[in-house]
Amino acid sequence: MEKKTVIVTGASSGLGKAIALSLGQAGYFVVVHYNTGQEQAERVVASIRTSGGCGTSLQADIRNLQACRQLIETTTRETGRIDALVNSAGVKIDAPIETMRETDFDKVMDVNVKGVFNMCQSVVPIMFSQGAGAIVNLSSGVSAVGYPNMVNYVASKAAVNGMTRALAKELGPKGITVNAVAPGLVETPMTDGYDAARKQAYIERVPLKRLGTPEDIAAAVKWFLSEEAAFVNGQVLFVNGGLH
Ligand SMILES: NC(=O)c1ccc[n+]([C@@H]2O[C@H](COP(=O)([O-])OP(=O)(O)OC[C@H]3O[C@@H](n4cnc5c(N)ncnc54)[C@H](OP(=O)(O)O)[C@@H]3O)[C@@H](O)[C@H]2O)c1
Repeated sequence: MEKKTVIVTGASSGLGKAIALSLGQAGYFVVVHYNTGQEQAERVVASIRTSGGCGTSLQADIRNLQACRQLIETTTRETGRIDALVNSAGVKIDAPIETMRETDFDKVMDVNVKGVFNMCQSVVPIMFSQGAGAIVNLSSGVSAVGYPNMVNYVASKAAVNGMTRALAKELGPKGITVNAVAPGLVETPMTDGYDAARKQAYIERVPLKRLGTPEDIAAAVKWFLSEEAAFVNGQVLFVNGGLH
């Protein structure tokens, strides 16, 4: 059977990397997308190949629509099809509202909201032509409950939930599912700056009494892309140990 192709954005690091490795093991041809982390992305591709899978790395700043179109074009030229898109690339720049810089508000919106829009808009023509496709967006637990000093990030992830639900309705009739995974706190470069006390306080609030792992998140993404989830559309799945 022909290999399925998936593009994982932000796969040079953290959750995107874990998702790319897991989908590589599951038999997908994986496009390991990166922005600045070329070496890291190449190492992810090498790991996929070492464990018997296939993939390639491609660069794009997802804030730039033209760059996203180019990424889709290059992938389509190489593989002939794109079965799935996982939008994991994201940024978080925290500050109290009174000192949050306008540039940091804009950057978080540009990457987390416009970047997801740019990738979805760029990939839908090929998915339309296939009559099938699946998109999974990375949201966040804070999108539902809020968090202090993260007004830009929380707003961006609430927008991701909204885009997920809107696109599920718009693209469903064309055979494309759109869902989101909303992780709780997971140790990745994004959360490296959190001190031990903050992590411990968080764990105490989680019913399952631990942090999530990148593999917990990758498993949920893989399920959304599987045949078992073929009738699941427009859902935001909170993978956070039950913290609400
Ligand atoms: N970690 C958590 O606790 C957590 C919790 C909830 C939700 N999330 C969400 O999960 C996703 C992955 O987070 P993570 O923890 O894996 O973060 P991470 O380790 O910091 O990785 C972020 C990724 O985003 C890419 N990226 C950043 N700006 C970009 C841009 N302008 N264009 C293209 N790519 C860009 C980076 O690429 P380069 O490094 O190559 O530049 C990197 O691969 C994010 O959407 C995040 O909001 C994370």
